[in-house]
Amino acid sequence: MIPILDLKPQYASLQPQMDEAILAAVRGGQYINGPNVKAFEKELASALGSKHAIGLNSGTDALHLALRALDIGPGDEVITVPFTFVATTEAIGIVGATPVFVDIDPVTYNMDPQEVEAKITPRTKAILPVHLYGQPADMDALMAIAKRHGLPVVEDCAQAIGATIHGKRIGTIGAVGCFSFFPSKNLGAYGDGGACVTDDPELAARITALRGHGGRVKYYHEELGINSRLDEIQAAVLRVKLPHLDRWNEARREVAKRYNALLKDIPGVMTPEELSGTVPVYHQYTIRIKDRDGIHEGLKARGVQSMVYYPVPLHLQKVHDDLGHQSGDFPISERAAREVLSLPIFPELTMEQQREVAEALRQAVEDGIPV
Ligand SMILES: Cc1ncc(COP(=O)(O)O)c(C=O)c1O
Repeated sequence: MIPILDLKPQYASLQPQMDEAILAAVRGGQYINGPNVKAFEKELASALGSKHAIGLNSGTDALHLALRALDIGPGDEVITVPFTFVATTEAIGIVGATPVFVDIDPVTYNMDPQEVEAKITPRTKAILPVHLYGQPADMDALMAIAKRHGLPVVEDCAQAIGATIHGKRIGTIGAVGCFSFFPSKNLGAYGDGGACVTDDPELAARITALRGHGGRVKYYHEELGINSRLDEIQAAVLRVKLPHLDRWNEARREVAKRYNALLKDIPGVMTPEELSGTVPVYHQYTIRIKDRDGIHEGLKARGVQSMVYYPVPLHLQKVHDDLGHQSGDFPISERAAREVLSLPIFPELTMEQQREVAEALRQAVEDGIPV
C-alpha cells in the first residue's frame, strides 16, 4: 500500500540528532517552559519573520487563545469558511463567539474575498481565513477588506507553515498567525503542539498569560486562562526539524509538480492551481473528480491510500445545527466536499511511487468502478 503519509523515513534521516535532542531534554530535567521551548520560540519567530512566537499545546489552542487575546467573546461574530477542519470553528465556539460563514473560491478552496463584505455586521470582530492544504488564501484582498472595516485577521496556518505570499510567510500578514505541530503537519512534533506568531507585543504577552493560567507573574492571576504550554520534549523535536522545513516544503512542491505532469491527461481529473504571487507548501495534494467515492475505492483496491479532507462542510455538521444552515447555503464548499480527493504526499515520496499512484488513478478512472 502506498500510504498517504509516511513519517518513518523522516525520522530515519534525523535519527542520531533526534535521539540525542530528546534524551538531552529528558536529562536536562526542566520539563515545563524549559530551554528548548524558549529557544524554539525564538527560532520559529526568526524563521517566519515575526517578532514574537508563543509555543502552545495545539493548533486548536493557538486559534482559541488568539481570539481570546483579541477580546472576542459572547455576542461577537467571526467570519470564516465552512470548508476546513472543525478546529477552526471550534475555537470560535469555545470563546463564545459565532462563526459566520462565507463560501470558498472553487480553485484555491480558500475564503472567497468577494463574499466577505456582505457578511460584515456591527458584531463582526475578526476575519479568520484558513490556508487550506498549504495553499495561501488571498490575503491581499482579505487584508484590504479588513483594513477598510478596522477588523483584525487571524490566520489559520495549521496546514501551511512556510508558505509565502509575495515573499512574506503566511501567519505574519494578519494580526496573529496560528500554527499546529500535529505529527502529520509539514512541521510535525511527536505529539500535539502549536504556536501563535504576532508582531504585536501586547497580543504576545496576552497569549503568553492566557496559556499559563491567565497570569503574567507566577501565582498572580489576572483573568481566566488555561494550561496550554508547548511541551519541552516536543520543542526539542521541533528544533531539530525546523532547519529542514524549507527543504521539505521544496520537496513537496516537486512532488506536486510531478503529479501535475503525471495526471494532466487523465480525463475528469482537476489538479491543484496556485494563486499568483504565492508559494504553497502542499500539505495535501488534492485533486477534484466527479465520481470521487468510486475513485477512492478504486485506488484502495489498487494499493493506493487516498483521503477526503473534508467530506462534510462545517455548516452541515451536527455541532453547528444551532446556526440553522441547510444544504445549498454554501454550494462551492458542498461541491468541493463531494469531489475532493487527496493523494499520497510527503517529502520522501519517490517518483516510482508517484507513477504507481498515477497509474492506479488512470485505471480507476478508466474502469469507472472499483475493481
Ligand atoms: C485547518 C486546521 N486548523 C486547525 C487545526 C488544529 O490543529 P491541532 O490538531 O494542532 O489542534 C488543524 C489540524 O489539526 C487544521 O487542519
